[in-house]
Amino acid sequence: MTKKAKTVLYPGSFDPVTNGHLDLIERASLVFDTVFVAVAINHEKNPMFTIEERVNLLKQVTAKYDNVKVVSFTGLLVDAVEEYKVSAILRGLRAFSDFEYELQMALMNRRLKDDCETLFMMPSTDYSFVSSRLVREIAKCDGDFRHFVQDVVYDAVKAKIDGIK
Ligand code: PNS
Repeated sequence: MTKKAKTVLYPGSFDPVTNGHLDLIERASLVFDTVFVAVAINHEKNPMFTIEERVNLLKQVTAKYDNVKVVSFTGLLVDAVEEYKVSAILRGLRAFSDFEYELQMALMNRRLKDDCETLFMMPSTDYSFVSSRLVREIAKCDGDFRHFVQDVVYDAVKAKIDGIK
């Protein structure tokens, strides 16, 4: 039996990438041959960072991982799975509260593409309460979010907030 390439696609909005995302990327880079981190161009949301900025920040914080590639995608996730020829989608599960939404997405993606599997990994409990939304919210209210993101992301968020003010 030939060994199958273990390639996963880790999709998300990454607006911005947090230490929780990075923890998952690092764990995935140890398990899989290649990890595609795929930034969604989501026209329904009103992001803090442009797609180019989000990709750029992700590239900087993942530069030390040889087997991690940062890409962007528009449209359906299952089409990105096809395009990058990955074995599975990877998503993070921080808490039970994530489960219902993730289950719905995983099952819908499998309905759209019947060989589409979704795998889940748990980030460190140090980050189980961290999300991009909370980072943006704390930053907008001048709170301290330094411990939840890498320095380059912290500076970018600060610069963005200062630009908005
Ligand atoms: O980081 P997020 O916002 O939780 O990521 C959600 C994302 C981007 C993975 C999801 O919205 C997505 O897959 N969008 C692409 C459009 C799509 O395929 N929608 C149907 C999903 S069942």
